[in-house]
Amino acid sequence: MTILDGKKTSQEIKEEIKVTVTSMKERGERVPHLAAVLVGNDGASLTYVGSKVRSCEQIGFESTLIRLEEEISEEELLLQIDQLNKDKTLDGYIVQLPLPKHINEERILLAIDPKKDVDGFHPANFGRMALDLDAFIPATPFGIIQLLERYEVPTSGKHCVVVGRSHIVGRPISILMSQKGPAGDATVTVAHSRTKNLSELTKQADIIVMALGIPEYLTADMVKEGATIIDVGITRVADESHPKGYVIKGDVAFDEVAAKSSFITPVPGGVGPMTIAMLLKNTLLARQWNQA
Ligand code: GUN
Repeated sequence: MTILDGKKTSQEIKEEIKVTVTSMKERGERVPHLAAVLVGNDGASLTYVGSKVRSCEQIGFESTLIRLEEEISEEELLLQIDQLNKDKTLDGYIVQLPLPKHINEERILLAIDPKKDVDGFHPANFGRMALDLDAFIPATPFGIIQLLERYEVPTSGKHCVVVGRSHIVGRPISILMSQKGPAGDATVTVAHSRTKNLSELTKQADIIVMALGIPEYLTADMVKEGATIIDVGITRVADESHPKGYVIKGDVAFDEVAAKSSFITPVPGGVGPMTIAMLLKNTLLARQWNQA
């Protein structure tokens, strides 16, 4: 059994980006600049955005954190987005989700200039990705592809069962793994909350991508010997014995499933750290693609 070590792999990717940034600096070029918009004070969002900004500093990117009040109106947020679209010193930006309930998320995401949409959430990027064109690929599926590729996990002709059909993870990873190329050429089944007999499907799978958000849902009896397991779950589960009052759990009962698997991602330290590295990679691509 091999652990797909997202912590180590994400460090390697960040180092690679840092080398590129250093040579950009040496040539006197402007370094990539990422901005993050955070509306309100949600604890998990604050943690995620904080890590994104800190990672920018580590690798020599410029970063800007824009914090806005929970009560901001949709129109005011759209004005802020318009400014970011026009800002020539900025290569890419993200609007951290979820947004407060009074704001229409879809309207905000549609307002982001697709050329600066380093989250890859705009329909223009999603469509380009689905058509095999150059596009910003959402960071989580992009990170999964990188792990599979760098660990040389066989995917061609394999049966991959994706559990979850979210726009951010399940849907895009199902498209990417069925496409031609590295970490692709798989036969993909997408399962979701209305799927019947899920374990009949997972038992046939060579690769299982769990993106469900239910802690330790996938158990050993649902998995075939030698399968590859990708766990995208990150649920905070209350645990008073822990200083933070919670622990992070994946969608996979790790110990029992690991014993049967050939490759597996841990939680934490698997897919999670990869997402930040891939956001940085998208920002570097934005800098390179949009060079005037
Ligand atoms: N909220 C949870 N994951 C993400 C992400 O990848 N991007 C943004 N913008 N918000 C998120």
